[in-house]
Amino acid sequence: METFDREIKSRLRERFGNTIRFDEPMSRHTYFRVGGPADAFAAPENLDDLAEMIRWCREEAIPFLVIGGGSNLLVTDGGIAGMVIVMTGNLKLIETAVETEESVVVMAMAGAKLQALCRFAVENGFEGLNFALGIPGTVGGAVIMNAGTATGSMADIIESVNIMRPDTGKMQRIDKERLDFTYRTLSWKRAVPDADRQPPIVLDAQCHLKRSDPLKLADEARAILERRRNRQPTNAASAGCFFKNPTGGRTAGELIDKAGLKGISVGGATVSSKHANFIINTGSASATDILALMQIVQDRVADTFHLELEPEVKIVGR
Ligand code: EPU
Repeated sequence: METFDREIKSRLRERFGNTIRFDEPMSRHTYFRVGGPADAFAAPENLDDLAEMIRWCREEAIPFLVIGGGSNLLVTDGGIAGMVIVMTGNLKLIETAVETEESVVVMAMAGAKLQALCRFAVENGFEGLNFALGIPGTVGGAVIMNAGTATGSMADIIESVNIMRPDTGKMQRIDKERLDFTYRTLSWKRAVPDADRQPPIVLDAQCHLKRSDPLKLADEARAILERRRNRQPTNAASAGCFFKNPTGGRTAGELIDKAGLKGISVGGATVSSKHANFIINTGSASATDILALMQIVQDRVADTFHLELEPEVKIVGR
């Protein structure tokens, strides 16, 4: 389905050149490796380009969706109407911004890989990010999702973030006091009252870390990554844990496992037999397969345990 006519396409090409593509399959940009085409797909090279792109979308009344690494995203087979803007490419600088004897503030741009930030911290002997080892995706995505594990989440280390307002293109710094992080979510309500209509775009994050011993951190990192590889299907095409852990103490993985659902499939989508909260694309899955499997898992867990599993993965598209 095409919503961009020839005239709009040529104007976009004129302004943004090769940074823009049309009818771009989202399966190329998501860890699930599924998803139909985005009408337009843009990778801004700098913040001016980004501001210009969102201004253009606003003026043309074209919806836009900003994405990071696509590691927690399920795009439907119908694809995405409007423009997808991907925050990777050149927006990935990581540097130490403030140093004291005991601590540092590290600035990471939204398009940097979270794992690159973890490595930077370990190599420099900055402690506080090891909880995030092995979590795929970008810093921007990790902020918006409050990415984390049992030992910590982004909320624990974020000092402040710089955002771009989607309505005006203006940049703004928001301190942690005005960022409401909860389990795998960030609410902008206090900082940006009209965020419901279109969430702000995270440009970078300031992370507060403690000075520590690089060798100690590296040892810890090896152990954490090995534990993850042993317990999770880290090499498969998936979006990590599919469902949020419900309140009450039992994890989604445990509930799905106890409901006897490990290994069940719809088309090319399977519930991992290594960790039941992972849905895997074994190669030929469509988004429709994954959504059908999701529904079966939710229904069975609801029947067996009277608990509703809520996806952690963001589902978007036509
Ligand atoms: N369990 C089962 N069967 C399974 C999987 C797990 O019985 O198939 C049981 C385990 O035996 C254990 C309990 O469930 O007693 C918890 O399992 P695990 O330690 O793997 O933790 P989790 O709650 O399933 C969370 C995060 C993961 C993160 C791990 C490690 C969520 C939804 N998941 O998993 O994050 O890697 O802790 O810290 O919060 C992700 O967000 O994408 C993700 C994978």
